[in-house]
Amino acid sequence: MDIFRIEGPVRLSGTVRINGSKNASLPIMAATILAAGKSIIKAVPHLSDISVCSELLGQLGCKLNREPNGDLCIDTTVVDNPVGDYEIVRKMRASICILGPLLARCGRAEVSMPGGCAIGYRPVNLHLKGLQELGAQIHLKNGYIVVEAPNGLKGREIFMGGPFGSTVLGTANVLMAATLARGRTVIESAACEPEITDLANCLNKMGARVSGIGSPRLVIEGVKQLRPVEYQVIPDRIEAGTFMVAAAITKSELRLRNCRLNDMMAVVDKLRNVGVTVEPEDTGCVIAGISPIKPADITTQPYPGFPTDLQAQFMALLALAEGNSIIIEKVFPDRFMHVAELSRMAADLRKEGSAVIIAGVKKLIAAPVMASDLRASAALVLAGLAAEGTTTINRVYHIDRGYEKIEERLDPVGAKITRESD
Ligand code: EPZ
Repeated sequence: MDIFRIEGPVRLSGTVRINGSKNASLPIMAATILAAGKSIIKAVPHLSDISVCSELLGQLGCKLNREPNGDLCIDTTVVDNPVGDYEIVRKMRASICILGPLLARCGRAEVSMPGGCAIGYRPVNLHLKGLQELGAQIHLKNGYIVVEAPNGLKGREIFMGGPFGSTVLGTANVLMAATLARGRTVIESAACEPEITDLANCLNKMGARVSGIGSPRLVIEGVKQLRPVEYQVIPDRIEAGTFMVAAAITKSELRLRNCRLNDMMAVVDKLRNVGVTVEPEDTGCVIAGISPIKPADITTQPYPGFPTDLQAQFMALLALAEGNSIIIEKVFPDRFMHVAELSRMAADLRKEGSAVIIAGVKKLIAAPVMASDLRASAALVLAGLAAEGTTTINRVYHIDRGYEKIEERLDPVGAKITRESD
C-alpha cells in the first residue's frame, strides 16, 4: 500500500484546476442504463471510485471505454445481468445508485446491501421506500436487495425525508426510476445538492421531463423511453473546498480554475468568517489565507447547508484558529475518524457526541497517521502541509477514491509531498 510523506510547514502559490465531480459522475454513469445505446460522459475524473462504478456497469452487460481525450463512453445496448455483485458493491457503497435505473430498464434488480463504512451506518431504507411507492416489490435474499416491477412502475407523490433530512443517492435512485414510470411522480424533501441538479439536467437531456430542479420538490412526468446522451459533469465542489482549505491552512494564496462558487456559498461564507479572502475570478476564484484564522461555529446540513464532506478539512483548519471552535455533525453523527489522527498531530480536540470542540493551538506537529475515510484522509494531508516536520500518511488508497493524484496537484503549487510504497 502507498503512503504519503509530507514536509511542513510550506507556503503554496499558483493555480489549481478543479476536476469534474465524483459525486455527479457516479449517478450520471448509472443513469445511462436507462437508455439503450452509446452515451458519452465528459469531465469524469480518473478516480478509483469511478473505476469501481465502471467495473459494476461492465458486470451488468455495459461496455465502457475511456477516450484519449478523457471522455467516458458507456454502451448500454446490452444490460442482461441486473445484479450488483457483493464483491464490487462492498468496495463502494454508492453502487446502490444502480438500483433505480436497473429496475426501470429491466423490471428487476439485485444489488448487494452496501456494507457499513468509516463514516458510520449507511441505511438505504429511504431508497427502498421510494422504489416501493413507485410499485416495486422488494425483499432481501442472502444479503442482496431484490426489487421487482414486472408490470412497470407507476408515479405517485413520495415523501423522501429522513431523520437526517434528505438523502442524496436515495433521491437519485427514485428520480431515475420515476423518469420511466407511468404518470407523474412528486418527490417531496428531495436532496438539492448540485450533483442531483446535474443528474436531473442530464436526465432531461436524455428526454426525461423533470421540473423543480434544484428545489426540495421534484416533479417527474414519466416518458416511454429515454435516449443516450452526451453530457459534461459539473466541477467537484468538495475538491474545490479542499484546495481552498489548503490555501487557508498554509497562509497562502491560490488561484482555483473551474470551480463554481455558487455551489459553495456555505463554504465560502465560513471561509470569509474565519478571515480567508475569496475573490471570484473568471471560471474560479483566488483564495488568500494570509491573516490569522478566527474560530468558527460549523453545523453540517444537507445542501445548501455546510457540506459534511468538508467537515474534516475544516476541522484541520480550525485546529490552528486563534480561539475555540465547534463543529456539529448533523448528517453523519459518527463521522469523526479524523479526530484521533489530528490529535496525534497536537490538535486539541474534544468530542462530545456528534460535536467536537476545537481549542486552537499555535502549531501542529508532524506525525505518522492513518487514513480512514476519503475526506478524513484529505484532512490529514492538509494538516501535514501546515505541521512542523515530516508527516507520513498510511493507506492513501482512501484518498485516491476521491482525489486524482492529489500529490501531483499539490506539488506544482509548492507542497513537499511524495508518494511512496510502504
Ligand atoms: C452522498 O452519500 C455522497 N456520496 C456522500 O459523499 C455525502 O457525504 C452524502 O451524500 C451527504 O451529502 C455520493 O454522492 C456518492 P445520504 P449518500 O443518503 O447519498 C441517512 C464522499 O465523501 N439515510 O444523503 O449515501 C444517512 O445515514 C461521500 O464523497 C437514511 O437514513 O448520503 C445519512 O445520515 C461520503 N436512510 C443521511 O441520511 C437512507 O435510506 C444522508 O445520507 C439513506 C440515507
